[in-house]
Amino acid sequence: MLRTHTCGELRLHHVHQQITLAGWVQRVRNKGGLIWVDLRDRYGLTQLIFEEGSTEKSLLEKAAQLGREFVVQATGRVVERTAKNNKMPTGDIEIKVEELTVLNPAKVPPFIIEDDTDGGDELRMRYRYLDLRRNVIREKLQLRHRMMQETRSYMDKQQFIEVETPVLIKSTPEGARDFVVPSRVNPGEFYALPQSPQTFKQLLMVSGFDRYFQIVKCFRDEDLRADRQPEFTQIDCEMAFVNQEDILNTFEGLVKHLFQSVKGVDLGHVPHLTYADAMKYYGNDKPDLRFDMKFVDLTTLAKGVGFMVIDQAEIALGICARGAGEYKRKQLDELTEWVKRPQIGAKGLIYVRYQQDGVLKSSVDKFYSHEQLKAWADALGAAPGDLILVLSGDEKSTRKQLSELRLKMGEELGLRDRSVFVPLWVVDFPLLEWDEESQRFHAMHHPFTSPKREDIPLLESDPGAVRANAYDLVINGVEVGGGSIRIHDRATQQLMFTHLGFSDAEAQKQFGFLMEAFEYGAPPHGGIAFGFDRLCAIFGGSDSIRDYIAFPKNNSGRDVMIDSPSTLVDAQLEELSIRVALKK
Ligand code: AMO
Repeated sequence: MLRTHTCGELRLHHVHQQITLAGWVQRVRNKGGLIWVDLRDRYGLTQLIFEEGSTEKSLLEKAAQLGREFVVQATGRVVERTAKNNKMPTGDIEIKVEELTVLNPAKVPPFIIEDDTDGGDELRMRYRYLDLRRNVIREKLQLRHRMMQETRSYMDKQQFIEVETPVLIKSTPEGARDFVVPSRVNPGEFYALPQSPQTFKQLLMVSGFDRYFQIVKCFRDEDLRADRQPEFTQIDCEMAFVNQEDILNTFEGLVKHLFQSVKGVDLGHVPHLTYADAMKYYGNDKPDLRFDMKFVDLTTLAKGVGFMVIDQAEIALGICARGAGEYKRKQLDELTEWVKRPQIGAKGLIYVRYQQDGVLKSSVDKFYSHEQLKAWADALGAAPGDLILVLSGDEKSTRKQLSELRLKMGEELGLRDRSVFVPLWVVDFPLLEWDEESQRFHAMHHPFTSPKREDIPLLESDPGAVRANAYDLVINGVEVGGGSIRIHDRATQQLMFTHLGFSDAEAQKQFGFLMEAFEYGAPPHGGIAFGFDRLCAIFGGSDSIRDYIAFPKNNSGRDVMIDSPSTLVDAQLEELSIRVALKK
């Protein structure tokens, strides 16, 4: 080994020992006859000291030539520091260097490799391997590693078997576009990369594996967001001979185990909320329950006074922001501008300030008496000091807009503390959702999800009302996982495809293998997949999943470090029959 210790481990009890360290030069401070070098490795920082008089002249000169990020090996004696630094774990000691070897010099790095860096996003992505040297990023990947180990350990104890499924497959519909790979030996034909291992894990249930899991890469060609990457990782799971409650209990167990073992947090009770209630009270199928601020329907109370905005609206919904009654006019104007931005799309915002003296001051005083506004306040459970915010319009958009406003108010009032974790299961999702663009129903989850038995008759009469045995785990307003009980017989699966607008021939071509498998003794089964990157980001207290992935893509889906995607040379395209396919 090129070192006897790491840069993070030396303490006072090592004083007088002869040691060798190896690492990267983080900083050099040169005071003429006295040179300090901070040496960094994955484990920490240790100060090296070179001093005129006690250090050989040639060694002092060598040290003076060190630059940032040089890779060096230093041998010397551990000494107690006169001026201790209690901010670093090795701050009681320093190394009086006797031998210094430059293992590899380094160019001046394009940005400072410290917790506070001067590097912009693009630059750090281009030199991601340097960014990964920074503690703040490395710690995130170490958290990811810990979570991966704890997941495997928990799943193994619960008798789950990790099985790898193929990456070159054909389309699995999860609602995004596929990434495709041309097949050289089958000209004009393409594999698709899995959006998830959904069909394979169901086939493993038919095979009798009974409890499967896999920490697996999935690929989805969709618009990027802070919590979305084109390739991301799932903890993918499936179980046979279980009902929905069994699945929820098992995976609540996994998530609780992760919180306990990785963060020392007891997640506590995980409530269940139906999709219908989530939409009714929070306008959102992934409500952030770190704070309450439930929607209250004020339509009946607000209509009929000649205020056209409300009279013409389908619905008027209010929220009560506790303690925000002192909001100044300027803040309220800003909120109004905020909801009117195209991203939110509201026409305006009605507010009522419930003053400490009991007076209700609103933006609609012209139309409503004190008693009428008091009735709103009572419906919302508002008290003096609170602020009531009301949006109106058509029901669907109003719920969506108020959901955004609720989150914004939560943020402004400091109710979205990243060190607080509030989970819930959202259950009873609709089976189908209407798609305006294609003018037909789509599977809300995926086509393998089973409808609730009692709702099957509705498939013909009112498909949009059919509920599914589908569930999501939501933490702090983030959908961290989703799954369902599956269809496990051919007839129901075929019926489902018909309702999704597949012809029998299309269904057979795409999913004949699965329906056939269902005819060979498929057990009842169901499962779930967690977004592993999202789970890591929540554990780390971040909104973006990017830094929990070693080599992520940027906002346009590019890896700017390796410069991918990139073009292929003509000969390669020819060999893959891409030209031929295009010509056809
Ligand atoms: P679903 O499509 O809900 O279900 O995906 C499961 C979880 O994966 C995460 N996720 C993502 N994370 C990062 N980037 C993305 N682009 C991305 N897309 C999804 C989310 C989501 O909750 N086969 C089903 C699961 C099942 O039915 O068992 C599936 O993939 O956290």
